[in-house]
Amino acid sequence: MGKNTPSLIEEITEPPIEPGGPSGTVGNAYLLPEFESQDQAQRASHHARSGAAPKNVALKTRPSATRPQVYNDATHYIAETRPSNPVHFLRTHVLRGAAQWFLRHFPGTVLYAVKANPSPAVIKELWASGIRHFDVASLAEVELVAGLCPKAKLHFMHPVKSREAIRKSYFNYGVRDFVIDSAQELFKLLEETRGAKDLGIMIRLAVSNGHAFHSLDGKFGADNRLAAELLQQARKVSSRLGIAFHVGQQTMHSKAYAAAMAQVGEVIKQAKVNPDIIDVGGGFPVAFPGLVPPDMHGYMNSIKEAFESLNLPKKTKLWCEPGRALVQESGSLLVKVELRKDNRLYINDGFYGALFDAGYSKLAYPVRAIRAGENANGALSNKTARFTVFGPTCDSIDVLKTQLVLPADIEEGDYLEFGQTGGYAAALQSGFNGFGADAKPVVLRDMPMLQTPGFWQDDAVQPEGEAAEIPATLVAF
Ligand SMILES: Cc1ncc(COP(=O)(O)O)c(C=O)c1O
Repeated sequence: MGKNTPSLIEEITEPPIEPGGPSGTVGNAYLLPEFESQDQAQRASHHARSGAAPKNVALKTRPSATRPQVYNDATHYIAETRPSNPVHFLRTHVLRGAAQWFLRHFPGTVLYAVKANPSPAVIKELWASGIRHFDVASLAEVELVAGLCPKAKLHFMHPVKSREAIRKSYFNYGVRDFVIDSAQELFKLLEETRGAKDLGIMIRLAVSNGHAFHSLDGKFGADNRLAAELLQQARKVSSRLGIAFHVGQQTMHSKAYAAAMAQVGEVIKQAKVNPDIIDVGGGFPVAFPGLVPPDMHGYMNSIKEAFESLNLPKKTKLWCEPGRALVQESGSLLVKVELRKDNRLYINDGFYGALFDAGYSKLAYPVRAIRAGENANGALSNKTARFTVFGPTCDSIDVLKTQLVLPADIEEGDYLEFGQTGGYAAALQSGFNGFGADAKPVVLRDMPMLQTPGFWQDDAVQPEGEAAEIPATLVAF
């Protein structure tokens, strides 16, 4: 990870936080379009931008009894609640913008990879934003999405499934698409579905993860020769056939997709079998401090060009399975400083909680310090210092790999808000030692701390709230 480590950014422009913050809750009656298809959602998304009312789209008002309380930003929430435990924040307008951006710009079908954030609030908002397809990896995810969105189309994209998961997803939940990367899994699939004739079988191809921040190499995926054999075998027993790959999480260059697509072309040539679907997986990146990807439009263009250059029959479909890119910017995490010892801070969440990625790798989140309550009499200092930040559990590996540059006078009772935590943060928290945020997020109306170049802000629906001051990134290592 050495070359990918975040750059040193020490400047702090965070204005002093006013004690108290805005008061009163925001009664935010907003309209949720209900779409029957991705196509309809795309049309409605276009109308939303052009200001025209979408045709044939029923608008429903969310009943006020189920409307969550919405806060302007973290300071507003702190002023109202003074939380002792860590808190997940969710910006539903950001989620909606990301979903609509993908629906508009990806030249095919968009599946949300549920593992990135399985919060019911997230899944429901994505559904309301027009996402109709979900990449699920376990029976629990199948049950979760089927329960929340009964009309959702589920695709079981884990190459190693339990027999029970295959059986129940097929017979109880109507799942038809399954990924495999071995002949053994193909047999298992046929046995457990009693030789079903309506299976969609996707062959997972092993591709280079050389441009990924988090590599998924070496665990799943068939090499070219095996993938070609599986294509030939699966063609005889499937009603639709696909090739899927994953270029690794947080892939920092669009050419990774083009290279994987070229490899797909070689497999097709070898197998002499045309698939019905090419699934380019997830891996789409978002901005982190020191890890800012190129413009996201470039990724879409690269995929489109590479797909077209395969010269497959016109009916061949293109799919993607983004996790992180759909949810990351919508989330942030609020933690509290429990103790300061010199330049060591002890906070109430960490490696075993929602900050796993920052303890396991040098992934750095943007962070801002917030002073509230009795402490707010003295605003946070403009002087900065570096801090080693420990999580709350007994384990000494519960420490952030990246030191944080924070106001030099930060102290017990101050809060830190980590941005860009919408993906793989809540999903990975363990509850070890009794610590951890409530999984249910609190909804905020402000903007994310960082924005990914070219991604969703360019043409998506505007957020409902005022844009917050974007604070500087206060991270160093
Ligand atoms: C099969 C599959 N699809 C999609 C994803 C989502 O990837 P990302 O969050 O990088 O978009 C993953 C993540 O590991 C995955 O394993």
